Amino acid sequence: MVTLKKTLVISSLLVLTGLSNTLQANNTDLIQAKEGSLKQVMQGLLIDTQQLTKAMLMEDFKTIETLANNIANHPKPSLATRMTLMKAMGKEMANFKSNDDVVHGAAVAMAKNANQQDLKAIAENFQTMIGGCISCHSEFKTKVAAILK
Ligand code: HEC
Repeated sequence: MVTLKKTLVISSLLVLTGLSNTLQANNTDLIQAKEGSLKQVMQGLLIDTQQLTKAMLMEDFKTIETLANNIANHPKPSLATRMTLMKAMGKEMANFKSNDDVVHGAAVAMAKNANQQDLKAIAENFQTMIGGCISCHSEFKTKVAAILK
């Protein structure tokens, strides 16, 4: 009986692992990003955002809190990448940065909302966050991608 239970636990774990592999496999259209690049940071944000969508729909507040904190404290690109960007962007850097602040602020709020199990507030802050992603992409993605190429 115990063995059967163990087998069940192990096989459901395998199914779960299979699911998360599928999730990652869905991102095979992404080109492998260089270590320390902005692109690598962005690919990490993509995975967190995809998983956050799922956690919101499953009302899994603990996972929402973890992912929102991951996004709020996302890794920075390497110092060399940041220097190149700052040099090429000059004054525009402040505007670029302000989009990141929108994402950061909304993610911090979402983590707090998750802690309070407030799904409605989470959804509102998710919209603000995605708005920050898209707003930066529409204004800067092409230009910055060319600078960092
Ligand atoms: C401050 C500006 C800014 C914000 C905010 C931002 N991005 Fe980006 N993102 C970029 C730039 C610039 C690129 C292009 C990088 C490159 O190609 O070198 C990019 C590229 C991407 C890519 C494409 C990666 C690839 O492999 O081609 C994804 C996916 C992405 N961002 C996801 C996100 C998500 C999700 C968020 C919000 C949680 C977000 N981004 C917020 C600036 C931003």
